[in-house]
Amino acid sequence: MDKALVSPQNKLIYINKPSITQLEIEYVNDAITNGWGDKCYDYIYKFEKSFSDYLQVKHSMTTGSCTGAIHVALMAMGIKAGDEVIVPDLTWIASVAPIKYIGATPVFVDVLEETWCIDPQKIEQAITPKTKAIIAVHLYGNMCEMDEIMALSKKHNLLVLEDAAEALGSEYKNKKAGSLGDIAAFSFHGTKTFSTGEGGMLVTNNIKLYERSKVINDHGRDPKDPESKMFWMREYGYKYKMSNMQAAMGCAQISRAQELVNRKRQIFALYKELLKDVKGQINAEPSYVINSCWLPTFVFDKIIKFDREAFFKFMAERKINSRPFFYPITTLPMFDRKPENTVSYDIYHRAINLPSYHDLTDSEIKYVAESLKEFLAKNN
Ligand SMILES: Cc1ncc(COP(=O)(O)O)c(C=O)c1O
Repeated sequence: MDKALVSPQNKLIYINKPSITQLEIEYVNDAITNGWGDKCYDYIYKFEKSFSDYLQVKHSMTTGSCTGAIHVALMAMGIKAGDEVIVPDLTWIASVAPIKYIGATPVFVDVLEETWCIDPQKIEQAITPKTKAIIAVHLYGNMCEMDEIMALSKKHNLLVLEDAAEALGSEYKNKKAGSLGDIAAFSFHGTKTFSTGEGGMLVTNNIKLYERSKVINDHGRDPKDPESKMFWMREYGYKYKMSNMQAAMGCAQISRAQELVNRKRQIFALYKELLKDVKGQINAEPSYVINSCWLPTFVFDKIIKFDREAFFKFMAERKINSRPFFYPITTLPMFDRKPENTVSYDIYHRAINLPSYHDLTDSEIKYVAESLKEFLAKNN
């Protein structure tokens, strides 16, 4: 191997991992040591309040995962078996699985070529009398066309759930991802820009959706029930909760929000500069969007010969983790194929994600970019 192309310090370059400072350690230490008894929710309440302040929304509810938050949100919106929910074909399965948990029907719609997010025109064509909601997934930090989506939702009396798992810190027309729809869900999985190990957040400005979500996520216990008393409830619910220890880590991360998002954007900008001669499409940032660049993503131009599997092998030999773009959900065996979603079916096999954790050094980013260019040069 070329001498210049040895991983700096010869270490494995992860695709992602959280940024941990003394602050995270101090808060989690405090939660483990002191956060019990009457203090067992202190970090949870603090995290929810800080998150609402950061997003400029009225209500935030911690959950054990974003998948759980999406499930609770759909139930709070009143989605029932037999209802249809419109969702992009190109996303992670967690945007879709909770629709199936309820027995509702996901209706898969194609994405826009520039943003890889759901196409508003295709949404309108997919609306039927059974449609109840739209899930707008902000993929890899890119933003959905929210004005168009919200206008459609008003016109057809639908609710909009933002799946903002991958877009914490992104902005659309000066409003943060997650503050634009009726309700939204975030992920704090270990690969995300802010992390609590595993974890999620449900946010909304709608008090009814918030109160309903709280009841559903507490085994159906409703503090407003006139017969409310300890251990009493009149319906089944779920329990997707976050622990105080995870929330302690969340409090540290949210207090570093700007720093964490800025570093993601810097990493992306460096890749963009280093790979400017490679033909293809990277994360979109139209003039009215700030992209928090969760995962630097490259969709190679059709003229470039690109074998995904050979690429991952090549990068692994250079101690670099890289990831494939998501498969269109309708190519998975449990769904009917929908090749008319031509953009989704065309993009994924010529697209990859690159490492972008906060502590990545500039020389590591250069090494990744050089390795990618070397791979493309060998095959083209
Ligand atoms: C678009 C999208 N939605 C939902 C989720 C689910 O998040 P979690 O793993 O916290 O359940 C993810 C997680 O990777 C995601 O990328």
